[in-house]
Amino acid sequence: MTTIGTPLSPSATKVMLLGSGELGKEVLIALQRLGVETVAVDRYSNAPGHQVAHHARTIAMSDPAQLTALITTEKPDIVVPEIEAIATSVLETLEAAGQVRVIPNARAARLTMDREGIRRLAAETLGLSTSPYRFCDSINELQAAIDDAIGYPCVVKPAMSSSGKGQTKIDGPQDVQAAWDYAMAGGRVSGARVIVEGFIDFDYEITLLTVRALGPDGQVETHFCEPIGHTQVAGDYVESWQPHPMHPAALLKAQQIARSVTDNLGGQSIFGVELFVKGEEVWFSEVSPRPHDTGLVTMITQWQNEFELHARAILGLPVSTALKSPGASAVIYGGLDAQGVVFEGVDEALRVAQTELRLFGKPESFKKRRMGVALAYDDDVNAARERAKKAALCVKVRAAS
Ligand SMILES: Nc1ncnc2c1ncn2[C@@H]1O[C@H](COP(=O)(O)OP(=O)(O)OP(=O)(O)O)[C@@H](O)[C@H]1O
Ligand SMILES: [Mg+2]
Repeated sequence: MTTIGTPLSPSATKVMLLGSGELGKEVLIALQRLGVETVAVDRYSNAPGHQVAHHARTIAMSDPAQLTALITTEKPDIVVPEIEAIATSVLETLEAAGQVRVIPNARAARLTMDREGIRRLAAETLGLSTSPYRFCDSINELQAAIDDAIGYPCVVKPAMSSSGKGQTKIDGPQDVQAAWDYAMAGGRVSGARVIVEGFIDFDYEITLLTVRALGPDGQVETHFCEPIGHTQVAGDYVESWQPHPMHPAALLKAQQIARSVTDNLGGQSIFGVELFVKGEEVWFSEVSPRPHDTGLVTMITQWQNEFELHARAILGLPVSTALKSPGASAVIYGGLDAQGVVFEGVDEALRVAQTELRLFGKPESFKKRRMGVALAYDDDVNAARERAKKAALCVKVRAAS
């Protein structure tokens, strides 16, 4: 049975979020609503999640010494990784010593922190269908992998990166050098490896949010949300909607893949399983053991959004993945590099019927930084997409005068 204490008292149930961006902020809000004491951690001050938590801490989470010091000082009951770039060895050590519970567990955090662990697990251990791939440590290896195994077109990505950073689609030999250089510049760690993947000519791609939560008998049960469709530009999500209509056979395959990979990763958590679909064929792409950016749409489409589902799963509470209404989300980018920006047109955006906005409160805007999101609902999912895009376009990010 779950008990929850009183925040800021000795009985508190204390949860530490490692990563406090827009997704972490919503997880923190969901936890706060259930009476949890929260510690928001990020690498810079005044991150979105810092602004809503009981405690805000700023450290380099990829530095093992800093991360160990913070966890052993704060003594949270539960640590929730919210980003990939974390010293996961620290989590494995503290978990093994019984000092902390990691969501979903330290092994899953390690396997999903770069593309190699999770891709080899999915394709080689679990036998799931994925794009053909090779990992390469030099441009010569990359060229050889393409010539011998992968062919053109293909996609090159740093082994450790997210949101499309350092990623290039290659159409022929003339693109290989530039793709290698871009991956080296865009990866999270220097001198790192790349993955080259055969390009999948999919009809559409989805995120299948999959929740592992405790049932009434204390056993973990797997729940699936309705599939989320999305569009990506340069590897970054710009628009998502739910539900995305699917052929029943493809949906079943998608659920089987999601179950296989999340069963293996284990623990209590939501997972964002990314899949490519063509007709009845489904390929596994990647998985995040946490809420997914395309799942921001669930703030308007589900009775329990993905952040609430995550909070409930973590705390051992029951979940429902039921849809409330079809809906959509559209990203609001910074469009300029500046600190302390001003948002104009918020009133106009909210005059678009059946919409909501989330402005994340990031202290600094970059051209390609996600600063907010417009959400819309409608009985017709395409109408919801139009509403969300219309509302997002109303919001203009300006430099403060
Ligand atoms: N092998 C592939 N074939 C076709 N399209 C691909 C392939 N790999 C990636 N893409 C496209 O690029 C997008 C981003 O790729 P991927 O999810 O691997 O990168 P990422 O940097 O982890 O992005 P994010 O962190 O936003 O999920 C995919 O959602 C898909 O649209
Ligand atoms: Mg992805």
